[in-house]
Amino acid sequence: MKALSHFQWAKFAGIFMLGLIVLQSCKSDNAPGYEYMPDMYRSPSLETYAETDLTSHGSTALQPVEGTIPVGFVPYAYPNTAEGYAAAGENLKNPLVFNEDVLAEGKAVFTKMCIQCHGKAGKGDGTVASNPRWPGPPPAYDSPALKDLPEGKIFHSIHYGKGLMGSHASLIVQEDRWKLVHYVQYLQDKDHKMAALGGGESTEAAEAEVVVGEELATKE
Ligand code: HEC
Repeated sequence: MKALSHFQWAKFAGIFMLGLIVLQSCKSDNAPGYEYMPDMYRSPSLETYAETDLTSHGSTALQPVEGTIPVGFVPYAYPNTAEGYAAAGENLKNPLVFNEDVLAEGKAVFTKMCIQCHGKAGKGDGTVASNPRWPGPPPAYDSPALKDLPEGKIFHSIHYGKGLMGSHASLIVQEDRWKLVHYVQYLQDKDHKMAALGGGESTEAAEAEVVVGEELATKE
């Protein structure tokens, strides 16, 4: 057989390629075509928060490890029960040393968050509590019921609330709550609390601070 010329080869190749194209184009529009590396475009992607069999708890959102706490969150160990209240009263101690700054800062927080019910001097005569629609005023801090309240119980009640008083756990950070504990004790018995500052000179300075605090309070 006579060898094919270059031109004939080219013709064959051309017809062959044309045939391939025609064959390809005959396929249905719905056919997905060939996948040369299916792994590459079929990775097992997971929707966020979707259900899945891949994790033990059935969701693609991973659970935080047990004991995880949010950034900046300080856990509180005592439960909101009568036993928790009693245990807090017994064991929980104020980590802040009482000084002029703590007194002034405690007063500032009290003026923003507590004065409306407890009143300026903690007598239970704030504007909210004096409203006729309010069931009854809170007891005065220096009343027989509250004058010897342990500091842990004061903290516990600010944290969880008590009776008609709501929880302040999400409103006031723990450090400020301890300042409030000092300030509540100051309102319970000023002389006794100021004596805890130790020394007559610093007492004068502290009372000056309180006056500054009071000026702030009247401005607000
Ligand atoms: C909505 C009004 C209201 C506000 C605001 C409020 N209290 Fe009270 N508080 C009460 C009432 C009412 C009681 C009495 C609760 C009871 O014994 O049933 C009380 C009780 C207390 C007690 C005694 C708790 C105990 O264990 O017996 C303390 C201490 C106290 N409040 C401190 C605070 C401090 C500090 C703030 C500010 C962070 C505050 N309260 C804000 C209404 C309020």
